[in-house]
Amino acid sequence: MSASERVEQLIRDLTRAEKVLLLAGSDMWSSHPVPRVGIPRVKVTDGPGGARGGSMPGATTTTSLNVPCAAALGATWNTELIERVGRAVGTEARTKSARVLLAPTVNIHRSPLSGRNFECYSEDPNLSGRAGAAFIRGAQSSGVATTVKHFVGNEAETERYTTSSVIDERALREIYLVPFEFAVTEGETLGVMTAYNRMNGPWCAEHRELLSEILRGEWGFDGFVISDWFACAHTEDALRAGLDLEMPGTGRIYGAALERALDAGDVAESELDAPVRRLLDVFERIGALDDPIEPEPEQAVDRVEDRALVREAAAESMVLLSNSGVLPLDPGALRTVAVVGPNAAFLNVNGGGSASLNPHHRSEFLESLGARLGTGVEIVHVAGCDIDTVAPALRIAMRAEIHAGTEWAGDARSTASFRSSELLFFGPVDDIGEEFSFRASGSFTPDRSGVHTFSLVQAGRARVSIDGDVVLDGIASPPPPGPELYGLGSREMTASVELDAGHTYELQIDYTSLFSAVLRGVKLGYRPPVDTDPIATAVAAAARADVAIVVVGTNAHWESEGHDRTSMDLPGEQDELVQQVAAANANTVVVLNTASPVTMDWTDSVAAIVQGWFGGQEMGDALVDVLVGDAEPAGRLPTTIPLRVEHNPSFGNFPTENGEVRYGESLLVGYRWYDARALPTRFPFGHGLSYTTCTIDAPSVSQATLRTDADAGITVEATVTNTGARRGAEVVQCYVAPRVSALARPPKELKAFAKVWLDPGESTVVRLELGPRAFAYWDPGNAGWPELVAMQRDCNPFAPPPEAMRTTAGWRIDPGVFDILVGRSSADLAQRVEVTVEDPTPAP
Ligand code: BGC
Repeated sequence: MSASERVEQLIRDLTRAEKVLLLAGSDMWSSHPVPRVGIPRVKVTDGPGGARGGSMPGATTTTSLNVPCAAALGATWNTELIERVGRAVGTEARTKSARVLLAPTVNIHRSPLSGRNFECYSEDPNLSGRAGAAFIRGAQSSGVATTVKHFVGNEAETERYTTSSVIDERALREIYLVPFEFAVTEGETLGVMTAYNRMNGPWCAEHRELLSEILRGEWGFDGFVISDWFACAHTEDALRAGLDLEMPGTGRIYGAALERALDAGDVAESELDAPVRRLLDVFERIGALDDPIEPEPEQAVDRVEDRALVREAAAESMVLLSNSGVLPLDPGALRTVAVVGPNAAFLNVNGGGSASLNPHHRSEFLESLGARLGTGVEIVHVAGCDIDTVAPALRIAMRAEIHAGTEWAGDARSTASFRSSELLFFGPVDDIGEEFSFRASGSFTPDRSGVHTFSLVQAGRARVSIDGDVVLDGIASPPPPGPELYGLGSREMTASVELDAGHTYELQIDYTSLFSAVLRGVKLGYRPPVDTDPIATAVAAAARADVAIVVVGTNAHWESEGHDRTSMDLPGEQDELVQQVAAANANTVVVLNTASPVTMDWTDSVAAIVQGWFGGQEMGDALVDVLVGDAEPAGRLPTTIPLRVEHNPSFGNFPTENGEVRYGESLLVGYRWYDARALPTRFPFGHGLSYTTCTIDAPSVSQATLRTDADAGITVEATVTNTGARRGAEVVQCYVAPRVSALARPPKELKAFAKVWLDPGESTVVRLELGPRAFAYWDPGNAGWPELVAMQRDCNPFAPPPEAMRTTAGWRIDPGVFDILVGRSSADLAQRVEVTVEDPTPAP
């Protein structure tokens, strides 16, 4: 690659030690500055749910724009909208003084159980790739570099630091690499983040074939490669494979280890130049070389237009899975609405882990619904059941007075404010360090009398008092380590406390950082008095309502980085709740506040189902917009919802076995599998109803025959007409189905799509481009094949002649007829047109 003279001069000026410094972070979220030659510290931020800044959620009060999760964005099938969302997130990253955005995530929805599905767009590589590229274009237009992640094969969280994803060459090329290829070739991403896992053996961070041969060699990627956090193993292997920046600082395999390798002569100093050049080149391209040496303080900039964008995107992502006609609701015809379900009062708007953040704002569903329906409509809310595995934090303001040292000694040296009773500190406290103690206080007024439950999870040691009485003492009786707080917390300890409604209680937490590392602090959890039969209460409310809206789902605990789900069923007693409410009210509308498929055996018993996703900070308003018809439910499923978990393609090969994740279904991911196996689905890939009706006319093709050596591809055109009475959207989906193929192929594959918005009676022509790759598959070939055949030619005179044997790997298109299928879901493809691919080298 050629870098600017400025970068080349910097490389000449840098000492060996400075080059080594540059190749590893300086701390959790920054690269190393080299002030002597004017190279600033470059800050990074997660991604992809927004730009959180240099902390962890719960460990900061800084707020950020929280956009809909990637699964929701995938469901919009609207690349222009995703690009706008990407731009907003990139702009937010700049408000956090970050120049590198650790997003988007373009791994594939391989299993409905994968913990990070919410962060990824789709089960389909084309949709994932186009969505990811759009996000990248938007984000990078605001002066940040994106690091598309996690390269590659990171489709499970279980044992993610060690597993090897065992993926055959065709599945790798045709499915899992494709979104990254789009990110490079169409998104022009400036960064790539390697995955924690290994891929067919070697760690992704030191995978020469992936990083040097495919990414840089074949795709021409000229940006930098960054490791996932702590995901590095060997100094020389990583350097030679092409890992440019080890994160976080100060480096396990680079830093001091790289110095040692240089001293020992295992690495030559000249080998440092290429990664340093790639880093500095990107820094220069995003303007970072002209930034101040130390990043500015973080800001929280809550913009009206961003709130509007996030609301639009959330509404547009919602998928109307079924509808008897109850939706859209007619506010004028309603007197009583029952709102039921554990997520109704506090929607889950993002998944858990590094993608989570403190939103600038939250629109709450109950309030939004009340405001939209007006005072004439009574809204009765009953949770019905509880899905929290540990008690959630109280949503109260708390303030901590922080002392240096672990004994609360002397005067407090600083203070910190929190918006909930989760009080976390990530890394050292400014001007104090890692040994500190705090006293935090806040007040709480219950609205019910009875026995309330408080719980404590600690990373360190803490005690909790209510009105001066110690109720939980993790200092005197510390619980053993547990899975909470990113695996750095204790098990939950609980206490039952009798409290009176309306009385204000003073809560105090005394905390010391003794016995803690990296993440410090506490989560004080709370559960209200238990209703003896909450489902019966919900059913009674539903029975007397005109409509029952049941908001069921998961939350950031169930769908999170760090672990996978073990069941596709809705957690807790939610299925029972839906069944019983539906039996009591024929107008039961179920809203799925989930990012991955769930089992829905009650589908036919309810009047309507809306897949609402984790819709970001404006989800409450957006959901009301869709339910009352102020917005069109314009989403389409980016991932198949199977009838049962046993039907999904990864079943039996998920998550791990003896340190390996076997991708046994190979190419048959998602709808490719259900098609090939003729399996029924609950809702097919691409499915989504509308409040209007559209027709898609018979398509035409720009040419009925294609010579792959001469033609760049074909254009498919189809007229779409809104035949209904409302403005609405249609997503025209185009699948390519080969009639014959030398190697086994999925029955059909999505290769193009377009979303259109139409007024009643309006028509438009959509154009879908199918390049040669839309017809191609990856043929690994077999170099040893001719030799094997030659050895056995005596017993098999009909063996193929040597010239017919494919010995090298590459993209191939077999001549023959391809069906081009056009329609509105993978199972609703009413239109078909044929294209014939001619053999570019016909026999003489
Ligand atoms: C995640 C990455 C994330 C990084 C920094 C890792 O655990 O896998 O996606 O960007 O942490 O938070």
